[in-house]
Amino acid sequence: MASNWYIYFLAALHIFTAVLAQPITSRADDYHIAVVDQNSRTVRVFPRNAKRWNDDAIFWSFTPGIFNSKWNNLSGVKIRKVAKHGWIALVTASGGKAGILNITKEKRKVNLFDLMWQATPGDNPHAIEIVPRNGAIVVASSNPGKLSLYVPTSKDIDDYSKIKHAEDYPLKGAHGVLWDPNGGKSVADGFLWVVGDDFLYKFKVTGSFQNTRLKQVGRYNLPKGGLGHDLQPDYTNKQMLLMTDSYAAYSFNTKSGKFKVLKTMMKLKSLVRHPNGEYMWVTGDKHELGQYVRWGAKVGSQTDARGWSDAKFYKARIYNPNYE
Ligand SMILES: *[C@@H]1O[C@H](CO)[C@@H](O)[C@H](O)[C@H]1NC(C)=O
Ligand SMILES: *[C@@H]1O[C@H](CO)[C@@H](O)[C@H](O)[C@H]1NC(C)=O
Repeated sequence: MASNWYIYFLAALHIFTAVLAQPITSRADDYHIAVVDQNSRTVRVFPRNAKRWNDDAIFWSFTPGIFNSKWNNLSGVKIRKVAKHGWIALVTASGGKAGILNITKEKRKVNLFDLMWQATPGDNPHAIEIVPRNGAIVVASSNPGKLSLYVPTSKDIDDYSKIKHAEDYPLKGAHGVLWDPNGGKSVADGFLWVVGDDFLYKFKVTGSFQNTRLKQVGRYNLPKGGLGHDLQPDYTNKQMLLMTDSYAAYSFNTKSGKFKVLKTMMKLKSLVRHPNGEYMWVTGDKHELGQYVRWGAKVGSQTDARGWSDAKFYKARIYNPNYE
């Protein structure tokens, strides 16, 4: 008959090996990721921790299909929340389009016919933002580069049938656009940040409804002077922005106006930081685009990844409507 100490020993060993066997990844919070894949021509949302990002793991998808060549080359996605529709997805395609989709529980697979709003800014739309409480939509397009401003003409700012094109602002290589509430609640408190070739730009949003306009109030040299790629929040710190250009990843302190080089790395297409502190990025692997979304406590030091060998990931976003 086994003595008691031996049974305790086995129990302790069992607990010890169970702790050791916990994969590092299971400690990461589970949240969802929206990825733009230029190979499948889709935007898909996956659980961060799904073992494999296969068809069974897809939580939500936008498949524009082949009906409209201007929607062929998806380049951006961003999640926002508005009073009338709840969560929405803002999407762009390099061929010339920008649009807004309603995210609902009832319909997890959407296509071109589900667009609530779309416009054709032309050039190569790469990013889109919606100004809270004002309702204006701003699209950043590269090549040669501009911001396109669309404004609400109805008192109901979420009525997308009443959005009109107001103005274009030339901006070389415009790739990323992000609203920064800047600690306030009103449009007047906030700033609109834009990353383009060589510079980060700071704008004020003035006026309201059809009189809404953008006014440049600052410009900062990207430390290594590359072509701007991505601009996203650091969700651990409301004062920080994260951005990438053709040479590096940077953080930028909106109060001090100072940059920090986080990592010298080419082809960084996307970068963001989750509230739990982990960075998430996409870097061109086989070619310009990425096969994996990667995570780590430091940019470039990967501890986890998801993807597949023929993916062409461009942008990866945390599935979260918050601006900061
Ligand atoms: C698709 O978009 C990417 C990013 O803008 C661009 O580099 C690529 O050339 C585009 N591809 C096509 C076929 O237009
Ligand atoms: C969008 O979805 C929400 C529910 O999530 C619904 O209340 C709203 O009416 C929808 N808007 C449109 C235009 O379908």
